[in-house]
Amino acid sequence: MTKSFKTFLKHTAKDYHNQSVNPPVVRASTIIFKSMQDIRKTQDKAKKDPTGGHFDYGRQGTSTTHILSKILKTMEESHHVFLTPTGFGAVFLAIFSVVRPGDEIIVADPTYTPTRILTQDFLKEFNIKTTFYDPHNLKTLEKNISKKTKLIFVENPGSNSFDFQDLGKILSIAKKNKVLTAIDNTWGTPYFLKPIKLGFDMSIVSATKYYSGHSDVMGGSLAVNKKVFKDVDKANKVTGLRLGPDDAYLITRGLRTLDIRLDKHEKNSKEVANFLSKYKNIKLLYPHKKDSLNFRMWKKYYSGASGLMGLKIKSKNKNSVIKFVNSLKLFGYGYSWGGFESLALYQDKREQGNRQYLKLANDEHLVRLHIGLEDPKDLIDDLKKCLKLIK
Ligand SMILES: Cc1ncc(COP(=O)(O)O)c(C=O)c1O
Repeated sequence: MTKSFKTFLKHTAKDYHNQSVNPPVVRASTIIFKSMQDIRKTQDKAKKDPTGGHFDYGRQGTSTTHILSKILKTMEESHHVFLTPTGFGAVFLAIFSVVRPGDEIIVADPTYTPTRILTQDFLKEFNIKTTFYDPHNLKTLEKNISKKTKLIFVENPGSNSFDFQDLGKILSIAKKNKVLTAIDNTWGTPYFLKPIKLGFDMSIVSATKYYSGHSDVMGGSLAVNKKVFKDVDKANKVTGLRLGPDDAYLITRGLRTLDIRLDKHEKNSKEVANFLSKYKNIKLLYPHKKDSLNFRMWKKYYSGASGLMGLKIKSKNKNSVIKFVNSLKLFGYGYSWGGFESLALYQDKREQGNRQYLKLANDEHLVRLHIGLEDPKDLIDDLKKCLKLIK
């Protein structure tokens, strides 16, 4: 790797053979060989070097997906990176690879709602028990570990409530109890946090968000260490989860500017957070206030902050909070995040899921903002006008 990660993202994957700065999109179901001997040679190479991109069928990938996987492997400092058609596909693959009927898993309470549904409801049908832990009270994690516990699934920060956890402590609890660990690192990406280096066995990023950066692609990545590689490789082959080459190309293109976009998302978010912190009826769910637990936990592990934040708004009038959100002119309303544009959502029960440790009073409301790449002064003006509507 070149000295600087930023330089690496600009210079990687040039294609001198085709004389193109970006690698071509290689689409293939059939991968064609010159002879049967050539097929066998490739298959032998794949056995010896399973991460080397020696494919004999399109479902395993083509050079386009292999290039993306290699770039992400460098970014993650991992043993390998598996690519999936969506971020949620990577969540599924991580769990499906290591958890079997009779096992138990422990999941962070503020996890992304579909992950919660998968672990809490769906896995139950396969005799896999899920318990949830309080992100700020790791005794609830330790006390739930049993001899059957196979995996601790962390999401950091937690979806919607943006709780930053003591990742080092979670890892030492896992190590002591010989339990595997996975983390959903979509918020930070390996640009701000490198979970495999920290000691996690698996690290998930929804490439739909900051990697692609333009709200027009879906994809996922699952970085793994050597310990779990074989299990994930086996599961990957039987699930048929594959990222298409066109999406892989767009994600690779997005990565060229990942650092520039994330630096700007962070700068804009800090300006917006500075502005919002003046409001007494708003508790900012963003690593901003220096003396807060969230700030300390973020500072301990992350080198930066992305653009997704929560606002816990105190108001006895729910409709006025919805009116505030609905009146914003520069924020779009919709799911997903991580694109160039700002977004807003009023987080009702359906977004929060069936959370055990979310203590939200009747007069407290959660609003999620994604701070995009617009001029932050315009975003602040928009927010300032609309915040007046909260009663
Ligand atoms: C934290 C987190 N993890 C995973 C996902 C799933 O990613 P995808 O939408 O690419 O399936 C999302 C989607 O919003 C998310 O917010």
